[in-house]
Amino acid sequence: MVDDAKLHQFIGQMLSDLGGAASIALVRIGDALGLYKTLHARGPMTVGELAAEAGVNERYLREWLSHQAASNYLSYDPATQKFTLPPEQAMIFAVEDSPVYMVGAFNCMSAVLENLPKVQPAFKSGAGVAWGYQTSCLFCAVAEFFRPGYQNNLVSNWLPALDGVVAKLERGARVADVGCGHGLSTVIMAKAYPNSQFIGYDFHPSSIEHARKHARQHDVASNARFEVGTAKDYPEKDFDLVTFFDCLHDMGDPTGAAAHVRQSLKPDGSWMIVEPMAGDRLEDNLNPVGRIYYAASTMVCIPTSLSQEVGAALGAQAGETRLREVITAGGFASVRRATETPFNMILEARP
Ligand SMILES: C[S@@+](CC[C@H](N)C(=O)[O-])C[C@H]1O[C@@H](n2cnc3c(N)ncnc32)[C@H](O)[C@@H]1O
Repeated sequence: MVDDAKLHQFIGQMLSDLGGAASIALVRIGDALGLYKTLHARGPMTVGELAAEAGVNERYLREWLSHQAASNYLSYDPATQKFTLPPEQAMIFAVEDSPVYMVGAFNCMSAVLENLPKVQPAFKSGAGVAWGYQTSCLFCAVAEFFRPGYQNNLVSNWLPALDGVVAKLERGARVADVGCGHGLSTVIMAKAYPNSQFIGYDFHPSSIEHARKHARQHDVASNARFEVGTAKDYPEKDFDLVTFFDCLHDMGDPTGAAAHVRQSLKPDGSWMIVEPMAGDRLEDNLNPVGRIYYAASTMVCIPTSLSQEVGAALGAQAGETRLREVITAGGFASVRRATETPFNMILEARP
């Protein structure tokens, strides 16, 4: 028997979900054409004023603005016919250094959609889809998605939560940032700790190229370099700190990676593992954050891991208990949750 009230409630949810999905392209256009940033800088504007300022076609813009107002992304005043980006919405769409800047998340959702033709056949075959073979905007989108979290937490909260690490970094430490992608985390640390030396490793050559460019732009070439290498074969040793940002669960053999980290650390070194926030059981993760991570995990993380040796496929919602098993199986004596945010847990493992 269909319960009419429940049906209507669910239809309401579907309308909201479809509206969100339909917004992905429009948010990306608003970002790419500088529409949010112009509204943020200039305050309330009519269609004509914004079209002139941003240099875009007025008819397209009218439709875009109407959608944004219907989405509560902008507010609209019928009396003046002006559109406004309210301060709270500006933190999401215009202020790149805000801790809740989410344009990167919209870019990621676009990449998730673009991965569909590659991932759907893998459901039948069980094969993986290699990271480097996935849609090409994924790599920039992932970097942009995680950047606000790193920018606002890494130096101020996460590193200080580790045992004695900040003092070492201030004196001068050797650090490996493994699975560094475009190297944003590496560059943030290299800028904050100029006495320390940082090496970013990733097995995706084009990400390493981007990371090198990024380091030059931020003037950290003297204490940060980037090399192609897998988590199980990067060659250097004697690190005071090894960091893994949102990548352990993507690896085919995370236990093998843990063992390699263990032998690359000094005896008193530390391994910082940043992983998506998750509880241990499915029922702990049936919430909006878990929903987004499970989608990304299905379309990106599981295929990436299955394309590598072992194919452990931990998934982006592995949970702390499973992560501890992997880390201790790699030879680490202790693991603790050093700190957390609504989106990430920060684990510290010691040899
Ligand atoms: C979700 S991205 C995170 C990138 C970066 N750490 C960040 O936070 O923006 C995962 C990264 O792990 C890298 N990766 C996956 N498996 C790897 C492996 N076995 N060895 C080295 N890097 C790997 C991918 O190339 C990708 O850059």
